[in-house]
Amino acid sequence: MNDVITVTQFAALKSAGQKICMLTAYDYTMASLLDSSGVDGILVGDSLAMVVQGHETTLPVTLDQIIYHAEMVGRAVRRALVVVDLPFATYHVGAHQAVAASARVLKETRCQAVKLEGGVEQAATIEALVQTGIPVMAHVGLRPQSVRQMGGYRVQRDEKKLMDDARAAEGAGAFAVVLECIPAPLAQQLTEALEIPTIGIGAGAGCDGQVLVTNDLVGLTTGHVPRFVKPHADLKESVDRAVSHYCDEVRKGTFPGPDQSYNE
Ligand code: KIV
Repeated sequence: MNDVITVTQFAALKSAGQKICMLTAYDYTMASLLDSSGVDGILVGDSLAMVVQGHETTLPVTLDQIIYHAEMVGRAVRRALVVVDLPFATYHVGAHQAVAASARVLKETRCQAVKLEGGVEQAATIEALVQTGIPVMAHVGLRPQSVRQMGGYRVQRDEKKLMDDARAAEGAGAFAVVLECIPAPLAQQLTEALEIPTIGIGAGAGCDGQVLVTNDLVGLTTGHVPRFVKPHADLKESVDRAVSHYCDEVRKGTFPGPDQSYNE
């Protein structure tokens, strides 16, 4: 629990049959809380587009923006492995572009790895990154950066494509692969077929680990929460209550009281 988590430890956790816990963070405070609560991995996800920026998709996030958030997360984390999403169209033009973008992430933040969406079509890029010494987490199944092409956020059931993508990512040197929105039996099959850990989101309990958007987990999401999320707190309700009490007391003139005032 106290050891610093590295990419090789992800592999060791799979070999030992221990589940890997990951959550997203986009700022210093949440990253500190997650790290001290004992998660194994923290993802600076491009879901920050929806969670932080109020966009409808992940497409608008820029490299500068994700680096800004990764810097804050990197400053907070002492133990967990921190993985940073490469934003849409910052790695699709080819390996050269991907290495340049990922090198910025590793040089300008204290984070240790990048994540990119794709399997077969990104294999050459994953290979180039790994050869440069940049650890890569792949992401197959539902790929939110391709939502315009995939026609929406749907469960992915094409068994052959999923197997080809996952195997291509592993063959290219990815240290782990996210499986998003895949039927549980199929995700389990992929998990058994791969040597690298699978990290599921909407992919059932058979994966080697799980990742969720933290705001969904703690009940802070104001919009739609996907079916695969099980919230473990209702922080929206707590914030609402705290703000109502504050406003009541300010309006009644009972806050600040003597304890919160400097009288000399
Ligand atoms: O951006 C994100 O949050 C993700 C998910 C896997 C949680 O990619």
